Amino acid sequence: MARKIIIDSDPGQDDAVAILLALASPELEVMGITAVAGNVPLDLTQKNARIICEIAGRGDIAVHAGYDRPMLRPLVTAEHVHGKSGLDGIDLFEPSSPLAPGHGVDFIIETLRREPSGSVTLVPIGPLTNIAAAFHRAPDIIPRIAEIALMGGAYFEVGNITPAAEFNIYVDPEAAKVVFASGAPLTVLPLDVTHRAVTSRAWVETMRDSGPVGQAVAGWTDFFERFDREKYGSEGAPLHDPCAIAYLLKPELFRGRSINVEIETTGEFTRGMTVADWWRVSGRKANAQFMREIDRDGFFELVTRRITRLDRAG
Ligand code: BDR
Ligand code: CA
Repeated sequence: MARKIIIDSDPGQDDAVAILLALASPELEVMGITAVAGNVPLDLTQKNARIICEIAGRGDIAVHAGYDRPMLRPLVTAEHVHGKSGLDGIDLFEPSSPLAPGHGVDFIIETLRREPSGSVTLVPIGPLTNIAAAFHRAPDIIPRIAEIALMGGAYFEVGNITPAAEFNIYVDPEAAKVVFASGAPLTVLPLDVTHRAVTSRAWVETMRDSGPVGQAVAGWTDFFERFDREKYGSEGAPLHDPCAIAYLLKPELFRGRSINVEIETTGEFTRGMTVADWWRVSGRKANAQFMREIDRDGFFELVTRRITRLDRAG
């Protein structure tokens, strides 16, 4: 039986590849996508999520709009990385599938209450606003969650939006604090892993040759790689968010430790830092499986096989 997931996302080119990877994988049943403000404002992230589903031939997937700003702070966006639309790199179109009725947070709560306890996994790949709001409003759903597999944070890699913080956690640290303190089984795919999941030129060309879906992926990564090339001298684009989906499909591609991770919300220079007790020196209880290593070749093999499958099916 396929594993039921809800993807909470702020697309973003790497979110797009993550969503395509999930939709291409028979092991996963995408129950819905909840959009959140992050890389770009909510009016664009919810539209982008519908565009991505249509590119995959899955305009039937319910896309719900969630929160348009963090719990307490003004929204910080990342157009400097993702472009004005969030999905720069392809010719964008108006999606024909409508936005699903109902707030994204209500969708998360209702789905977790309706489905058998322990059967639904949450995959947050943007700021954690929607997830924290759902936990605040309906704490009864927390013990019903099978697992949360999220992209966010960093330890050895420290930060990408500030010297101390990764973007998803930085945008809404109060929300991240709620999620990390929730007690739900939590797996974290931080920058330490995702900065190793960098595309190569040869891989992008394989995508381009695959068909329309692969061409979209190539267009996105062509656009998105320029930021990391300039900043880190990377070879290509980091596929941050697909790591969360790949972990669900093949956990053996990743290695990490069960440790305590606290979120810094008040630091003068360290807002949004994930204080990860990798060496277990704090004595605080472990609350997350924090990944540190990735089998890069295995990861790209998986992504290639699945994305090209969408083209063969189309
Ligand atoms: C995360 O921030 C966004 O820019 C990406 O989509 C990813 O979720 C990486 O820090
Ligand atoms: Ca994202």
